[in-house]
Amino acid sequence: MNDANKDARELISFYLDAGVDALIGEQAADRFADKAPVAPSRPIAERPPSPAHPHKGAGSIAAPLAPEAAVMAARQAARTADTLEALRALLEAFEGCMLRATATRLVFADGNPQARVMFVGEAPGRDEDIAGLPFVGRSGKLLDQMMAAIGLDRTSAYIANIVPWRPPGNRTPTPQESAICLPFIHRQIELADPDILVCLGQPSTQTLLGTREGITRTRGRWFKFDTGRREIRALATYHPAFLLRSPLQKRLAWRDFLALQKALAG
Ligand code: URA
Repeated sequence: MNDANKDARELISFYLDAGVDALIGEQAADRFADKAPVAPSRPIAERPPSPAHPHKGAGSIAAPLAPEAAVMAARQAARTADTLEALRALLEAFEGCMLRATATRLVFADGNPQARVMFVGEAPGRDEDIAGLPFVGRSGKLLDQMMAAIGLDRTSAYIANIVPWRPPGNRTPTPQESAICLPFIHRQIELADPDILVCLGQPSTQTLLGTREGITRTRGRWFKFDTGRREIRALATYHPAFLLRSPLQKRLAWRDFLALQKALAG
């Protein structure tokens, strides 16, 4: 391999490690040559805030919020949504989570918001980021099969994620990113008002149910979950992506799904 090829390979491998997995233009852009953003005519602090852009005034350039401020902004914004559509619109405009900048699109939900059961995963992956729908990739196909085995499909279940934007390179969302998105998924659950919540995997279980144990201890267990309107039942189970890597564990997930079927029949 000549030196130029070697350098190119090393550069691509650096990009892959950094989470780049798609080209967005044919021509390389020289960002160093880009003009610096024009300074706002008035200091940001003097401008009136808007609910979706709590940290920026009209016409200004978004500056990243400190994590605590972003969580506060998310709480305030989520509270104002009276419908799922309003919540989706708020999230589309919400600039408090930097994942929005690297994701292709918002992945809000799929399925039937009137369903009695709601599944919540961790965060969209590449396929979901492209489709704008949760669980459409390999793990989504497995989830569909698991649901079908107990008579459910996307007309009888509602599906969302803790974090509605894909983290670059499918990395795990940081605790701050999850904390910023938490008020939105809480509100989404409250507005969808399912009878049963199913947490798919450890991050979803720990974030929504406040557990600290690992998923091998919590799976199969029923919890109480306060939606804000009422108390419902919540079940922790394995994430389908984990089951793809550890197919032997499917028997335990099958048990959980049978318990879910029983609970829905009851
Ligand atoms: N994994 C998740 O947690 N959510 C998705 O939507 C897809 C994969």
